[in-house]
Amino acid sequence: MTSRYHEIYDGWQRDPEAFWAEAAREIVWHKPWDKVFDPDQGVYGRWFVGAECNTAYNCLDRHVHAGRAGQTALIYDSAMTGSTRGYTYAELTDEVATLAGVLEGLGIGKGDRVIIYMPMIPETVFAMLACARIGAIHSVVFGGFAARELATRIDDATPKAILSASCGLEPGRVVAYKPLLDGAIDMAAHKPQACLIYQREMEQAPLVAGRDLDWADTVSAAKSAGRKADCVPVAATDPLYILYTSGTTGLPKGVVRDNGGHMVALKWSMKAIFGIDPGEPFWTASDLGWVVGHSYICFAPLLHGATTVLYEGKPVGTPDAGAFWRVIADHQVRVLFTAPTAFRAIKKEDPRGELMRQYDLSKFHTLFLAGERSDPDTLEWAEEMLRVPVIDHWWQTETGWPITANPAGLGLLPVKHGSASVPMPGWDVRVLDERQKEVAPDELGAICIRLPLPPGALPTLWNADDRFTESYLEAFPGYYQTADAGFKDVDGYVSIMARTDDIINVAGHRLSTGGMEEVLASHPDIAECAVVGIADPMKGQIPAGFVVLKSGVSRNIDEIERELVALVRERIGPVAAFKLAITVARLPKTRSGKILRKTMRAIADGEEYGVPATIDDPAILDEITEALKERGLAGAA
Ligand code: COA
Ligand code: AMP
Repeated sequence: MTSRYHEIYDGWQRDPEAFWAEAAREIVWHKPWDKVFDPDQGVYGRWFVGAECNTAYNCLDRHVHAGRAGQTALIYDSAMTGSTRGYTYAELTDEVATLAGVLEGLGIGKGDRVIIYMPMIPETVFAMLACARIGAIHSVVFGGFAARELATRIDDATPKAILSASCGLEPGRVVAYKPLLDGAIDMAAHKPQACLIYQREMEQAPLVAGRDLDWADTVSAAKSAGRKADCVPVAATDPLYILYTSGTTGLPKGVVRDNGGHMVALKWSMKAIFGIDPGEPFWTASDLGWVVGHSYICFAPLLHGATTVLYEGKPVGTPDAGAFWRVIADHQVRVLFTAPTAFRAIKKEDPRGELMRQYDLSKFHTLFLAGERSDPDTLEWAEEMLRVPVIDHWWQTETGWPITANPAGLGLLPVKHGSASVPMPGWDVRVLDERQKEVAPDELGAICIRLPLPPGALPTLWNADDRFTESYLEAFPGYYQTADAGFKDVDGYVSIMARTDDIINVAGHRLSTGGMEEVLASHPDIAECAVVGIADPMKGQIPAGFVVLKSGVSRNIDEIERELVALVRERIGPVAAFKLAITVARLPKTRSGKILRKTMRAIADGEEYGVPATIDDPAILDEITEALKERGLAGAA
């Protein structure tokens, strides 16, 4: 099929408002908009101003009314417990309406915040949609974060209630959530009025009298009483959720997502980008705690009337590197979306794809990869083994849906390895130099998006319009700064090469090295430190923390380094994957005192580097090289 991409993209460019108004016809609105886009509202304008809608209604009730009541909406497949359970659209609607009734009973209503700190179980999806149903704003916190990170989010979002579970399951260990939750509430200045706790059979959490409620008891009482909540119309511009993501400091950014524009963009993307029709099984192997999980496990497939797979497990070790193929075969998955790191893990365990051949993958059509750069080796391996198109596409928590992709539903364009394909309608992608001028094709620069951002992208940060402007809109006036560097080729294909800030990407998880430095610096023996992301064959990047001890510290260095590793795990969480604390005598700096992090990273990765002209003492670079060599880090050899 010839791709319709250029025709569709040009149509959007000619009249963006007409394009999105047309896409918006796919959504059921309680009240139509006054303006498709109003440039005078919000920080840079708002979409579907004046309209009223409900996201849960569009994800669930409308499909029940339209004849999909008996179709499977959600398949929960847990490799951790060896169980599978399906929910039809009618069943999911019932569960969500009942939980929404419970939340209403707790005094939660439109505009109230609810934090969801839960593992990959169906109840997490019920919780997100139950909030949406009554107009409450949810904020899902990833289970791999520690109590302090949760506390920061509690204080920023000031939730009326927190929904949580007794535990998450990681290979070989049960992660008790309740001590983390209680610890976070103790630490936070803001206290939620109630916590609803889902008790899993592997771990019974003690409940705090007067605050905690048992999820199953409360929901079953609501079911017996027939108590359900109706869908509450909200403004299209009202927040649906807040999702915290790493900023350049330890204080995360609360990315706000609205209701109307989000539904329009996500619904459009399911067919045009992912090539999925209503009724087809779609699987995103990520976590509901990340934006990929929000958009493509929960909201988009349900808005589209597809069947979404919720997978609790890993690509390897649960029980083996055939886990993904089993899930695809069992649920006849048409499209899988995951992070390249998952494929690197599978490739390492099963390089010849022998496990893959044990399963019937005949229904499998396309693999989409995002979250980090897809290295051509892994991508080619996946193509060769699976014999389906493998599509790298690029987006961010902030954007909510793909900025660039190769649109399966519009007809695929040629795949270019190493590139995250072409801009989707809505995104006017420009590569700029420091003087804010567009660079020539193939030249590296800062990747920016011409304002306004399309529907679905963040309108602002939670309670922080100024921080939003400062972080994203000030450096390149008239543009949104993605903080990714890369280039466009003559055909308009975009390649994403690196972040321009101190964010690193560890196994597809976005982390702030600045946040880790704050933790290391809080150790009493540390004078100064620098955390850099160094190349890792499996996780893409891993953090390495270089520390200088305070003068006079005579304790055992191994012991201090172990404490530092434990401290990051305790403060940020296991997801930081911080295992490398390296004590050095000095850090390389410019004469003005700026730590040369880029040079340190280049040494660790074995890349060529020039000694910066402004360096204070070049001998320190040799000391760093020595310290890395002692750890056997490949690049330093
Ligand atoms: N709750 C508690 N702990 C968690 C967690 C959760 N939800 N998720 C991860 N962790 C822990 C892990 O157990 C691990 O702990 P450890 O240091 O004790 O081993 C640590 O956080 C680091 O996790 P991760 O970086 O994911 O490494 P891993 O070795 O567990 O798994 C992969 C590596 C590649 C298999 C895994 O990252 C993966 O499946 N990635 C898929 C892609 C993905 O989810 N991307 C997200 C955005 S699209
Ligand atoms: P997150 O907000 O967690 O989704 O992380 C977004 C960041 O991940 C982007 O700014 C990029 O740095 C990186 N990223 C996501 N997708 C890709 C991709 N396809 N190629 C390269 N980097 C990517």
